[in-house]
Amino acid sequence: MADDRPIGMFDSGFGGLTVARAAIDLLPAEDLVYLGDTGRYPYGPRPLDEVRGFAMEIADHLITAFDIKFLVVACNTATAAAIDDLSDALNIPVLGVIEPGARSLVAATRSGKVGVVGTVGTIDSGVYDDVLFKVDPAVEVVSCACPGFVEFVERGNTEGAQVVILAERLLAPVIDAGVDTLLLGCTHYPFLARAIGEVVGPEVVLVSSADETAFALAHELSELDLRHSDATRLGAHHFISSGDVRAFTVLGSKLLGPELANAERWITDAT
Ligand code: DGL
Repeated sequence: MADDRPIGMFDSGFGGLTVARAAIDLLPAEDLVYLGDTGRYPYGPRPLDEVRGFAMEIADHLITAFDIKFLVVACNTATAAAIDDLSDALNIPVLGVIEPGARSLVAATRSGKVGVVGTVGTIDSGVYDDVLFKVDPAVEVVSCACPGFVEFVERGNTEGAQVVILAERLLAPVIDAGVDTLLLGCTHYPFLARAIGEVVGPEVVLVSSADETAFALAHELSELDLRHSDATRLGAHHFISSGDVRAFTVLGSKLLGPELANAERWITDAT
């Protein structure tokens, strides 16, 4: 059995491209439709109910317009807000980034003292504390929100003194706690890994959920017999933005690579 329909994936903007990159590399035969909700980013400061509404609307669009076979919520905030509702409401499988990220964090720590950074929405939801407790009740978790990081990425400012100064201030709680491993619990943050790494120092291992989510996606596609029937083909990649598509294409191709050669506009009620 096989399924030749595309995989759907979304984020508030460019962050989910870290997951898209890993998925394209790991599953080159699969078609992918990626939607960046740049017209309504950032999700992090919004009430989770509102983010849940966006997630439902996007899922509905990806299913109706593209007949996707699998949905990847490539956004921690949307996963925190909506993963259960999406799984209950949709008749296709849904995968978020939080459980795969939590598993790789636990696998990477040596001391058992771990840090998690994310948006205000994700950190305040407490979802990482709950999921990490289920994965390994013995790990000690220190988490902190990093408002401002996402905006730097969305502006294409991923390096330089300003990012480092903000990172020094925001990451102080995890540095002071002496964590040995830090989960970048927002899919935008891997684009700031150089600045974050400089601030936390080389002894702290940075973990991103992108690779682990792509592995989980590959595993689930196989388990559910949803792989493309032709494993030797090269998949097509389709990109959609609810904001300025030109800006999405220019910065997106820099962040993701040549697969993002153009993007299509999606008009929501809010844009
Ligand atoms: N990339 C998203 C996340 O993983 C959300 C960023 C935002 O829009 O605030 O949480």
